[in-house]
Amino acid sequence: MSTEATPTRSGGTPGLRRLSELPGPRRLPLLGQLGQFDMAQVHRAMEGWARLHGPLFQVHFGPQPVLVVADHEAVARLLRERPERFGRSSRLREITLELGGVTGLFAAEGEAWRQQRKMVMSSFSPGQVRAYFPALLGVTQRLQSRWARAARDGARIDLQADLKRFTVDAIAGLAFGTEVNTLESDADPIQRHLDLVLAGIFKRVMSPLPYWRWVRRAADRELEQSMAAVQEAIGGFVAQGRARLAADPARRAQPPNLLEAMLVAAERGDAGVSERDVAGNVSTMLFAGEDTTANTLAWTIHLLHRHPPALARASAEVRALAPQTAAFTPEAMAALEYLEACALEAMRLKPVAPFLGLEALHDTEVEGVAVPAGGVIWCVLRHDSVDERHFPNPDAFEPGRWLAADAAAASGKRVAMPFGSGPRICPGRYLALLEIKLALAVLLANFEIEGVDTPDGREAAETMHFTMNPVGLSMRLRERG
Ligand code: HEM
Repeated sequence: MSTEATPTRSGGTPGLRRLSELPGPRRLPLLGQLGQFDMAQVHRAMEGWARLHGPLFQVHFGPQPVLVVADHEAVARLLRERPERFGRSSRLREITLELGGVTGLFAAEGEAWRQQRKMVMSSFSPGQVRAYFPALLGVTQRLQSRWARAARDGARIDLQADLKRFTVDAIAGLAFGTEVNTLESDADPIQRHLDLVLAGIFKRVMSPLPYWRWVRRAADRELEQSMAAVQEAIGGFVAQGRARLAADPARRAQPPNLLEAMLVAAERGDAGVSERDVAGNVSTMLFAGEDTTANTLAWTIHLLHRHPPALARASAEVRALAPQTAAFTPEAMAALEYLEACALEAMRLKPVAPFLGLEALHDTEVEGVAVPAGGVIWCVLRHDSVDERHFPNPDAFEPGRWLAADAAAASGKRVAMPFGSGPRICPGRYLALLEIKLALAVLLANFEIEGVDTPDGREAAETMHFTMNPVGLSMRLRERG
């Protein structure tokens, strides 16, 4: 178990191992592991080393030593000890602010995190998400119309792009009370800027040197422009929220969405919720709610298409229990158990967050290893979740394993942690699962999938741009009679 530890002057701590004593891949002086893998494949490099060196090892990103933890129980213990002993990466915060961005719950720490977490949790509770169902259904119907048009035109659907339109429309309605409707617009959507910013921040966080401070290349200028576009959109959402509160002061008693609740709290001067935090959380919800859910959906559709028996069973379930989009209800969605199992299985094999980074807030120890304040810990989430000891036939896409009403399915949920774990577990998970079920149900109820294609016809490649994306999926559909 982890406890506080006091390092001795020599840097060693009685009874604890030093990080440098741990196994790990051979490294080059100064560069460490850099150059040994492509940054977009960093998750796979870590997973490969965990298989080779065991679940506790060291790597170096340039001069920065990193402790890697892959055992799911050890990871869960670390994640539980937030916000007191571990925080998120301070580099993420620094780089976002340096780029002119704002930060919210994801990057908050300490008391500010506690206050903001309470507000976010109540805005995304199962009850709130349920109350939002009719609006979410409207967004789902727009996705159906978009796909029906593509099917009639025989057009190839850019799967991830369409799913990101769906998730942005969904989150903006629920969290900001604003109807965005990117699904029915062909204008340059905010999603393109969100993607560029996420990928750019990831690249900078992982870079051993702040090269952009010395040389600004075209990509850096594009990144800054995209960040400015996102900030402008955020300003727009906040202004609309304020205008609604001004026009109807009764909304202040029970603000109907997260944005308005935060605006009221900031005006009241509540601790941990400043004007800047309001904008920071609009930004956080856009970033955290868009890419994660859209990519999880894309992976699920890809895997279903490659596994015809699972696709047939999921289609049969949807066509029996939720055959018509207009009649979808929260109860019908809850009854789609096999469909949910498909999403859980896709998240086990293709978690969009295959790792989580932590930073030690004080000198401490992790699994018997001394870690100084500021030390970086890399939690590998896809290790035990694809290990035979926990999931028989671990590489196979078998959604049925999540249906077993026995201890195996329950313990599987503790081993695979697609939404993280502990006090900072994803607050958007109910919304995400409902969005996933709605989009899959609208697809299977109304269309036959003619193809989900990859650029090379093989299983989709994985690439890390903050979240783990499938590369280049396009979909062809035929409307059902
Ligand atoms: C399938 C979709 C999603 C996945 C796989 C996912 C995954 C995650 C993961 C792994 C974390 C880190 C948890 C931890 O540190 O223990 C997280 C945090 C977070 N997620 Fe999600 N997420 C999804 C959808 C959403 C949505 C729709 C929202 C929108 C509201 C959202 C908002 C957040 C926020 C605000 C945090 C930070 C929580 C905190 O630090 O207290 N996520 N998510």
